[in-house]
Amino acid sequence: MSKRFEDQTWKESMRLRMDFNNMMADFVGEHGIKEEDIVAIQEKIEIAEASMKEKRANGDMDWRDLPYNQAEVVADIKAYADVVKDKFDAFVVLGIGGSALGPIAVQQAINHPFFNELSKEDRGGFPRFYVADNVDPENLSYLFDIIDVEKTLFNVISKSGSTSETMSQFMIIEDMLKERLGDSYKENIVCTTDAKNGNLRPMADKEGYKSFVIPAGVGGRFSELTPVGLLPAAMAGIDIEELLAGAAYMDELCKIEDTFKNPGSMYGILSYLAMEQDKNIQVMMPYADSLKYIADWFAQLWAESLGKKFNNNGDAVNVGQTPVKALGATDQHSQVQLYAEGPFDKMTVFIGVDEYNKSLRIPKVYGDIPSLGFLGGTTQDQLIKTEQMATEYALMKQGKMNMTLTLPKVNEFTLGQLLYLFEVTTAFAGELMDINAFDQPGVEEGKNATYAMFGRPGYEDKKAELDARPEKNSKFMM
Ligand code: PA5
Repeated sequence: MSKRFEDQTWKESMRLRMDFNNMMADFVGEHGIKEEDIVAIQEKIEIAEASMKEKRANGDMDWRDLPYNQAEVVADIKAYADVVKDKFDAFVVLGIGGSALGPIAVQQAINHPFFNELSKEDRGGFPRFYVADNVDPENLSYLFDIIDVEKTLFNVISKSGSTSETMSQFMIIEDMLKERLGDSYKENIVCTTDAKNGNLRPMADKEGYKSFVIPAGVGGRFSELTPVGLLPAAMAGIDIEELLAGAAYMDELCKIEDTFKNPGSMYGILSYLAMEQDKNIQVMMPYADSLKYIADWFAQLWAESLGKKFNNNGDAVNVGQTPVKALGATDQHSQVQLYAEGPFDKMTVFIGVDEYNKSLRIPKVYGDIPSLGFLGGTTQDQLIKTEQMATEYALMKQGKMNMTLTLPKVNEFTLGQLLYLFEVTTAFAGELMDINAFDQPGVEEGKNATYAMFGRPGYEDKKAELDARPEKNSKFMM
């Protein structure tokens, strides 16, 4: 059966659009970007573009090829999901960071917001969906109150297999399953990890757990389109082929030579120039509850990739742009006052939707109360869209940079485009900033200190260093 994304007309009708008028000085005045600013960094742009191409050709950006090289993986995931979905009442992801935020974002974007409360039939026969992405003992304990672990499939996702948060959860659950289910416990575990490296692969091989592979050249936060995201999505009834097709479509758009027509390059350039103008915050504000967790996923991608102490020459530069999550219209009543009248230190990215999956008509009542009567006879979707446009305008009027990404609808195809666009933009911004967007040395110190405090062998020197740290001054404590 042919898929709708094979129809060129449908594909084009689902193309993500980008409006960056309000980033420009023509609209926001002295705090905006001039076309000359873009021209002035043309050489830098060309170097960044060449470097992106070279890295891709050398296999240093394997995440870029994920839309094209996973036919077998997709078939394996679909076949597995098809068999296990009937066996289990719940599906639980154990992961953190890049191994959790994508699965949450995609599930929330595509599925019914109250998916778990629907009957199994209304969930399309798929199990309830949960993600345990912290070591908060309350959260996991309370999860055990509402799932039957014997009827739950646990997907442990960890590329390294050494992430304490994820592996501690796994150790608790594996032990619990062994005790309750005896030999058959293995069927309740599926691992997503590296093909060769890390702790989880030998465990999966030894115990005989079903497993999927995270390609070696794809880092955590760029892994949503690998089995990290594809298996959870398939287990929630999401069309993973369409998700990948959307990513492939965005890849085509991001190859367009004309920078003004290339969304990945232009979004990266605008973000870079905004940072150059001390706009050190990027607010991500979708106007759709379904996209709320896309802002969470983006925040990790942007923060971990671009927040760096050293540039590629090893000079200390301490760069980055702080991502802030917001939700329209909810946060108009919480944060927008600051965005409109506060400091000129941010750019805001709105994500809009042309056609919501539902429309709700507001009845023609209270015509005698002018401040309410004007709403009657309109729809909630008209209202949210109008509020978005009004907020864009209000920020523009205050000279505050903002731009809008619009999805014709929220579906797997448009979501695939959005995820891929954010990834390309992040990588391109990293090139312009001349930093390595693919490592995260800043999180190692905290991890190592945790290991040392917990007495992990090999961390004795770190423990000694910690023990020698200055004592806290009681004057600054109460
Ligand atoms: O982007 C990253 O690399 C990180 O956020 C990782 O995804 C996160 O630390 C989890 O790592 P792992 O998959 O090895 O458990």
